[in-house]
Amino acid sequence: MKLIEVKDYHEMSQVAADYLLSNIKKSDKLTLGLATGGTPQGLYEALIQDHKENNTSYQHVSSFNLDEYIGLSGDQPNSYCHYMKENLFNHINIRSENTHIPSGKAVDLVGECKAYDHMIESCGGIDLQVLGIGSNGHIGFNEPGTSFDSETHIVELAQSTREANARYFDSTDEVPTHAITMGIATILKSKEILLLISGQAKQEALKKLMEGEVSEDFPASILNRHPNVTVIADEEALTLVEDLKQLNK
Ligand code: F6R
Repeated sequence: MKLIEVKDYHEMSQVAADYLLSNIKKSDKLTLGLATGGTPQGLYEALIQDHKENNTSYQHVSSFNLDEYIGLSGDQPNSYCHYMKENLFNHINIRSENTHIPSGKAVDLVGECKAYDHMIESCGGIDLQVLGIGSNGHIGFNEPGTSFDSETHIVELAQSTREANARYFDSTDEVPTHAITMGIATILKSKEILLLISGQAKQEALKKLMEGEVSEDFPASILNRHPNVTVIADEEALTLVEDLKQLNK
């Protein structure tokens, strides 16, 4: 796992954007895995800014999002489909037919999960997956205890996750209880992974990740076994890791 240490959220977002842009510019076909939430918002702003200034093209780019709430349709403001349109897709020239997000309104949700994995495979797999991390170590919506062998599946969200995401809703009660998420095995099939970590709320999670013990109780720990992971973390998130380094000196 390669660690890039940056000063703050702004620098994390810029370094991540440069990372994606160099991949976007050097390839003639690229499949990105994308995340939602607060962490990648600055990255998406930087990509939009670059698109305005440099006209970087996304015509050859496809994307697969990690997850979607069950029960929300794509046009509802708190759906991840809506988030992606508002925060990225509507502002760059990616083809809408090349953007994929599981449907939280599918009648056959199990079939939707299988079809999603199949679509990723038919597209040739994910070249570069962007991830955030939950303070309990979740990646996608794979909560602690999720099997490392899991493919795209339906999950019940942890109360801590619903509370963390309540900031986008009127109350915690309104946060859906279930979601569709790429599984851990699905995520691990990505050729390359870029994990973004910023802020005080992620200090414990980052420390646990860097300690290196791999356990299903801490889903992100499996990233220690992937051959091509880059973590971009800011000073605030790194505080406890720095303490650890001092102790080991
Ligand atoms: C979002 C996702 C989640 C978030 C995580 C962190 O698509 O899959 O794993 O990355 O919950 O969320 P933020 O960035 O809001 O702290």
